[in-house]
Amino acid sequence: MSDSPIAPDLQAELKRAAALRAVEFVRSGMKVGLGTGSTAIYATRQIAELLKTGELRDILAFATSKATDEQARRLGIPMLSDDLPSNLDVTIDGADEVDPELNLIKGGGGALLREKIVAQASAREIIVVDETKPSPRLGTHHPVPVEVLPFAWLAQARFLESLGAKYTIRKNHDGTQFVTDSGNMILDCNFGPIADARRLAAMLNARAGIVEHGLFIDLATDLIVASAQGIQTRARNR
Ligand code: A5P
Repeated sequence: MSDSPIAPDLQAELKRAAALRAVEFVRSGMKVGLGTGSTAIYATRQIAELLKTGELRDILAFATSKATDEQARRLGIPMLSDDLPSNLDVTIDGADEVDPELNLIKGGGGALLREKIVAQASAREIIVVDETKPSPRLGTHHPVPVEVLPFAWLAQARFLESLGAKYTIRKNHDGTQFVTDSGNMILDCNFGPIADARRLAAMLNARAGIVEHGLFIDLATDLIVASAQGIQTRARNR
């Protein structure tokens, strides 16, 4: 469903270009959320680079996943403690699909719960994507990842089917079951193009056993899309 229609080298170049543009919004002294995935990593690396050269100073960062936390620490970025004692000035993160209102599907990398917590704690949530991610309607290109408690998970699977989803259990490359940073499982739910993502998000929010879902409604404040034609930015108030 999410096979890329552009060459991998070009796509990587576009991801990097979008991420680097986003880092231009980071100022010395800021508290910065670090996203997860193959696009956001370019922003993390660039922040580390600018800290090394002294172009950025006094940055404190907070990661949206264990993987990003490890990468950031390896790169020498000073990290906030795990209790996130204050709000973040800006977070730079990727997305799997973006609609014209800047609503998103996230969680392709499995970090949706922490990503949503960090997005809600950020004054500014900058989403960086290449040209394959925008779509007229969420669900057109990517399933919605739904993080569920392993306890009685089949009841959540049946509930998701009753909402029209065809689900698959997220697996690792070696075929073992994927486990999130919080110890849960992910059901990737193909709803097809979603007529009312806000309503679907509300129904998922109301269900016990669904820990979180990948519909990010009204959370992005900025979108940066890199395409072969150049970079487009959009902003909205939250
Ligand atoms: C991680 O859980 C996701 O939300 C990513 O931000 C999203 O999958 C985009 O990843 P890429 O930048 O690797 O496409």
